[in-house]
Amino acid sequence: MKIQSVAVIGAGQMGSGIAALAASQGMSVIVMDQQISQLEKAKRVIEDRWKRNEEKGYITAEERSHWSAQLQYTHQLEQLDRVDLVIEAIIEQRKQKQALFQTLDRFAADHTILASNTSSLSITELAAHTSRATKVIGMHFMNPVHRMPLVEVVQGLETNEEVVQTIVKLARDWGKEPVVVQDAPGFISNRLLMPMLNEAVFALQEGIASAEEIDQIMRLGMNHPMGPLALADLIGLDTCLYIMESLYQGFGDDKYRPCPLLRKYVQAGRLGKKSGRGFYLYSVEE
Ligand code: NAI
Repeated sequence: MKIQSVAVIGAGQMGSGIAALAASQGMSVIVMDQQISQLEKAKRVIEDRWKRNEEKGYITAEERSHWSAQLQYTHQLEQLDRVDLVIEAIIEQRKQKQALFQTLDRFAADHTILASNTSSLSITELAAHTSRATKVIGMHFMNPVHRMPLVEVVQGLETNEEVVQTIVKLARDWGKEPVVVQDAPGFISNRLLMPMLNEAVFALQEGIASAEEIDQIMRLGMNHPMGPLALADLIGLDTCLYIMESLYQGFGDDKYRPCPLLRKYVQAGRLGKKSGRGFYLYSVEE
């Protein structure tokens, strides 16, 4: 199946990155978010980055204007019957994603593939909230989308092999490196990453070292490009908490219990880079 048009639902950090990537690959893209302010922010972030790339000579003025024209922003679920693929990238909350998949199933054309960018939630369960379980799949991009090569492709229990191959090919066509995994809490990426981030927050809570020192140890000692607390800030502390909760729930094992300090930061509205403050301070439009 050939994918030519895409709808991205959720215009946050990930949705805006995925939409920009799809538009730059010649796709016609509908970007939908329930908050108009998020749509405006996504448009600003995408246009500013392309403008900087043009100034640096990485892309031409024609490319920039062509890509911009491929993007259409809306706060309503409309015109979904015109797209070949929907990529859902809303908040990492099970109930909200389930309700959205039910709605998407109603509005989308029969041939449309419904993909989720979820970090940890069950694709099989999301699929069960639709009448097209064979066409529901995980398409898990990494942050920031324009820089990270991996797309973790998650095959749910009912996902059709042809749908898997369509998404694998699409990810390659978009310049990414897909790796197919089976459905399980956190898949591979977050099952391995999140316990390390959580442990870093526990170490901070216990006063073993400062945030800077914890990050320095992992950068200088383990050759990680960024420390775990800076990475948690980049992902979003709310998103980290939701992922850890779904790992904790999914495996029922205490080793995934979210650190109370992480919960406290989220309760205080310190969500990391996107809100201007997490373990570190940021300028919000960074
Ligand atoms: P974000 O908080 O930046 O954006 C979420 C967006 O979804 C917001 O703009 C919000 O207004 C919108 N939204 C919420 N409910 C909605 C609904 N029912 N309909 C339409 N829009 C709705 O979150 P982020 O970081 O972009 O994460 C989105 C998804 O991507 C999550 O599932 C997350 O686990 C996943 N993800 C996140 C990564 C990260 O590093 N932040 C990496 C890979 C995946």
